[in-house]
Amino acid sequence: MAEITTDVLIIGTGPAGCSCAALLSSYGIDNMVVNRYRWLANTPRAHITNQRTMEVLRDLGHDVEAEAYMQATEQDLMGENVFCESLAGEEIGRMKSWGTHPLSRAEHELSSPSFMNDLPQTFMEPLLFKTACSRGTQSRMSTEYLSHEQDADGVTTTLLDRLSGREFQVQSKYLIGADGGNSLVAEHIDTPVEGQMGVGGSMNILFKADLSKYVAHRPSVLYWVMQPGADVGGIGMGLVRMIRPWNEWLIVWGYDINEPAPEVTPEFATGVARQLVGDPELEIELLSANTWTVNDAYATSMQKGRVFIMGDAAHRHPPSNGLGSNTSIQDSFNLAWKLTAVLKGQAGQALLDTYSDERAPIAKQIVTRANQSIGEFGPIFQALGMTGGTDIELIKQNMDARCDAGPDAEAQRAALRDAIEFKKYEFDAHGVEMNQRYRSTAVVTDGQMEPAFDLDAELHFQPTTWPGARLPHTWIFRGSNGDKVSTLDLCGHGQFTLFTGIGGEAWREAATQVGADFGMAINVHVIGPRQEYVDHVGDWARANEVSDTGCILVRPDHHVAWRADELSEDPKSELARVMNTILAR
Ligand code: FDA
Repeated sequence: MAEITTDVLIIGTGPAGCSCAALLSSYGIDNMVVNRYRWLANTPRAHITNQRTMEVLRDLGHDVEAEAYMQATEQDLMGENVFCESLAGEEIGRMKSWGTHPLSRAEHELSSPSFMNDLPQTFMEPLLFKTACSRGTQSRMSTEYLSHEQDADGVTTTLLDRLSGREFQVQSKYLIGADGGNSLVAEHIDTPVEGQMGVGGSMNILFKADLSKYVAHRPSVLYWVMQPGADVGGIGMGLVRMIRPWNEWLIVWGYDINEPAPEVTPEFATGVARQLVGDPELEIELLSANTWTVNDAYATSMQKGRVFIMGDAAHRHPPSNGLGSNTSIQDSFNLAWKLTAVLKGQAGQALLDTYSDERAPIAKQIVTRANQSIGEFGPIFQALGMTGGTDIELIKQNMDARCDAGPDAEAQRAALRDAIEFKKYEFDAHGVEMNQRYRSTAVVTDGQMEPAFDLDAELHFQPTTWPGARLPHTWIFRGSNGDKVSTLDLCGHGQFTLFTGIGGEAWREAATQVGADFGMAINVHVIGPRQEYVDHVGDWARANEVSDTGCILVRPDHHVAWRADELSEDPKSELARVMNTILAR
């Protein structure tokens, strides 16, 4: 007999588990989260926090979003992505990244009310955890997941209290494995996985040292050190990553995965730091050092019955593109409202199948992209003549050759420029971050074709209200002279929302009636002159792709569920048809 019961038991307090707990508690769902350690992340692994993730935090509350910005390093200090021989040595090239190039910045600003920033995992996790616990989540630290059994009614999970050594059981309606890249939950549900684990070896060296004189004039989160003879493995070359400007740093350094992981002693760590910074006298305060492996694997299904996996448990990949924590939080945003609708009796169980249908393709996409980004350093090495051997003198000559006069050197310079620019697929891939479109029964297209991308879908975000896409953000205004509000602010918060315009008021009545029948509120916003919200600059009219009498139905996770180009003859039955399909009733 289980000692504890809850609706949803979550294993893991990483970005996936904490965000899921925070969302479920915000939606009024009883949940419990456990972590085998006594506290949250002890190293600042994830840091690049993209706009879509910030929209999830904004949905959790402006206070949550504001605290994230307060703790984060702002976007303006993120973008001078430097390639150099060492921090003190010669700079080889640079690219404006993370939305700081003026063209990219414009796209960022047009896409979202939220800003990209650098928020180390050591700040993100406490923020999400605090939000979850303060809103009702029960948490148990030093508590390890051991096993589970599920039947038609629920899941019985066996946990170990690591303080007392006592095993106990929790009975829940659903179990979520947010237990990271070595997920035991994923193993126990025998998740089908494609790809390979352990394709490279890397080590993290976390230290404090004031490096302002090398970096403050070219602020960036990443400094790539390319030295003749530098150890190339793991993610390749040496990376000096800013944790806090400009006195806390993380070096990422490769090791040969075919050899045992090295012991990172303080002497070794100091040596690596001196080499990459280019200062043989540098003193560092070593905070920690650990090794990790580069993975290239994704789950093709993220659910078995009443058990789900999310985050790194489902997608295991290198840090390139900064997608891990972001994708983990977005997994939660997808699953939390669905669990809520089922637990509140508003939706059928089959709604939960759409979690895997919608998120497993994203897992594949981001694992593929992150691994591809590692390979795309190749042209930079080639352009510098750093490939093909370990003859350090020869490599130096090759690198020096780009400074000569003559057509060969000019071609080498052009190749280097192109190779660095090509890295925008890692460091400025706004489309990868924002273009996620879902296909499942929780989206009703009524046969409307998906709009093709006009520009490169990995680099550029293309807003659309095609069902399955995230609702476009535009600023609209409260009343005729009120303050501005994002269309994304008017939806979400665990509820369905319907947008319409003048002449579409009948949708409001339909939404009220259908909502009452389904036991849920469907919020309605009429946008137009002398309405509650006014589209003074016309951005909403340009973005919404339906006529004023039409409507756009938006899911709690901001994705468009359905749209109608114009008012239908029987709006109530149309809306009921759509909601029945989406909610699997
Ligand atoms: P995560 O691994 O964070 O958490 C797992 C949780 O489960 C932990 O609380 C753990 O203790 C717990 N757990 C595991 N087994 C358990 C058990 N049996 N019982 C109980 N608890 C258990 N991402 C990103 O978005 N932007 C970025 O810039 C970067 N940068 C980056 C740099 C470096 C160097 C690394 C190594 C990684 C990144 N990442 C990243 C990736 C990011 O760190 C990673 O994707 C997320 O931490 C994944 O979050 P999860 O919550 O899925 O797992």
